[in-house]
Amino acid sequence: MRIKKLLVAVSLTTGSLLPSLTQAQNNSVIAVQVNKPIADVQPTMWGVFFEDINLGADGGIYAELVKNRSFEFYQPLMGWKVTQNKFNEGSVLVVNREEKNTNNPRFIRITKDAAADTLGISNEGFRGMGIKKGLRYDFSVLYRQQTPGLTMHAELVSTAGKVIGSTTLQPSAGNGDWSKAAVSFNATDTSLKASFNIWFEGTGKIDLDMISLFPEDTWKKRPGGMRADMIQLLADMKPGFIRFPGGCIVEGHELSTRYQWKKTIGPVEERQLSINRWNGEFAHRPTPDYFQTFGLGFFEYFQLAEDIGAAPLPILNCGMACQFNTAEVIPIDQLDPYVQDALDLIEFANGDATTQWGKVRTQMGHPAPFNLKMMGVGNENWGPQYVERLKIFSKAIKARYPDFKLVNSSGTDPNGDRFDYLNGELRKMNADIIDEHYYRRPEWFLANAARYDNYPRNASKIFAGEYAAQSDKTVSIDNRNNTETAIAEAAFMTGLERNAAVVNMASYAPLFAHIDGWQWTPDLIWVNNLQSYGTPNYYVQKLYSTNKGTNVVPALMEGKSVSGQDSLYVSAVTDKNTNDVIIKVVNASAKPINKAITINGVKKLNPAATVTVLKGNSVLDVNSFANPEAVSPATSAVQLKGNKLAASLPAYSFSVYRIGMK
Ligand code: AHR
Repeated sequence: MRIKKLLVAVSLTTGSLLPSLTQAQNNSVIAVQVNKPIADVQPTMWGVFFEDINLGADGGIYAELVKNRSFEFYQPLMGWKVTQNKFNEGSVLVVNREEKNTNNPRFIRITKDAAADTLGISNEGFRGMGIKKGLRYDFSVLYRQQTPGLTMHAELVSTAGKVIGSTTLQPSAGNGDWSKAAVSFNATDTSLKASFNIWFEGTGKIDLDMISLFPEDTWKKRPGGMRADMIQLLADMKPGFIRFPGGCIVEGHELSTRYQWKKTIGPVEERQLSINRWNGEFAHRPTPDYFQTFGLGFFEYFQLAEDIGAAPLPILNCGMACQFNTAEVIPIDQLDPYVQDALDLIEFANGDATTQWGKVRTQMGHPAPFNLKMMGVGNENWGPQYVERLKIFSKAIKARYPDFKLVNSSGTDPNGDRFDYLNGELRKMNADIIDEHYYRRPEWFLANAARYDNYPRNASKIFAGEYAAQSDKTVSIDNRNNTETAIAEAAFMTGLERNAAVVNMASYAPLFAHIDGWQWTPDLIWVNNLQSYGTPNYYVQKLYSTNKGTNVVPALMEGKSVSGQDSLYVSAVTDKNTNDVIIKVVNASAKPINKAITINGVKKLNPAATVTVLKGNSVLDVNSFANPEAVSPATSAVQLKGNKLAASLPAYSFSVYRIGMK
């Protein structure tokens, strides 16, 4: 114990992942035994955690470019600017029709009496709008004519003030009801932070709502869809599941702002907007313009899961608001609507068109079921209040859907009183899947690579639902997605993989961050309005996910699993589909290491193998918009001699060997 403490102290002062004291070379061989599988790797093993944090949805994967398109932010004209050549009281009026439309009460009324006057509105986008030269943009608006006669002249303007695309929209005289008008135009130039102007020409009075601008190049070219480059990065990972919509956003700051899936489906203009709970969470990262318009709602999440081949994992509110914030709870005798939401969600995802909610899904254009098999009840909830509510949810859901799997929260931390209490209670309940979270320093990840070695095998399964190594400390703005954190996570994940008998799912968190609008760092993927890049941590996740295999096999050094000896961390799987053995090796030290690996229990191996290596020159190396692949994997050929592999493991590296078995 004393030695362990000393080692940690040394590592903190040297800045390297592991102290030089542990770097002495050991000549023992790593023996991989492919004919003695220990466990199946679940298809869900490596997944992604999506939350609308850091402009993840609005301003992120949801490709809408107009911010506050329906004037429902608490400041109705937030994101908009009115330009007119002379003061004209009420020329742009915010009108509230709450009595008639509670979901989308506000619209604007434009009045222009003199043709010679100038009147326009301008939207700033989400920290500007990313516009691409030559791309088509689709402008649409809901309108209601009061006095026909106004024409809309729309234009995109670059940061330099240059018009980089324009069009004219002439709404028809209409019949006095709301109608939709749309027109498309091409951008003539690229701009990272453009704005969108609408000038009103002629005279007249018109009501406008849902003023929208989408690029043509959305994911799968779906109108009103998602940002393709960001989704492609997810698809490239081939994730086993996608968890949504969070995260604390499930809980809400208070119950009134909790995530309610039923408000996020159906026609987009009828989805009631909500403040984003990250809007004012951190005084040091205020984001007053952060709202959820739910253009990206539960239907779209399910569709996304289907698109990228990931099992959907929705997390629902359990009748408790965020316990770091208000900690509001719903009285037990009023929990029914919450439980009903969970039951209805299963019907929405899986029911046929004869069921109430299956019919809604069918009407939204997806008659086939989404094949939902699991759901989380509560995010980071804790205490007896959680257990009490969870039991009610579990009883009701299992009564109707006995095979449906439930993910239960073990709170915010992987140890301590809260964790111990919940872990005990959940195991007494025979929980299907326990969700553990760890936002910890890299040393913690290295020291805990064997965390699951002794977890009971025939009991509750584990979902490592949120984790990320923090280069500084949790919620510090100084956290970086650097090589040190990525390598520490890769090392820890050998322990997850080795223990696939009990760990069935894992996901890094958070997933996305906008460089100009983030609240939380580190994050797996960083974006600006035009570009996105994967961090070193992203590549670790991707390497695991795309080298998942089907069966865990032993990888031992001196008869023991390799979990820190000589700064090495090792796990191995075989893949029934490709007939490969895949060996993952992390060298967490500052020195290159040569290591012999033998592959036993197979008649013949293909001597021509490959190794894919992720490494940094320094623990501080990061990726960036300027150099998005500074720390990224490179694949090369390696030659086996019989069943022997001479592994050259660079300093701070993660190597994935793939060897064909004959
Ligand atoms: O991932 C960011 C936040 O961390 C999540 O919303 C929450 O579950 C955790 O505390």
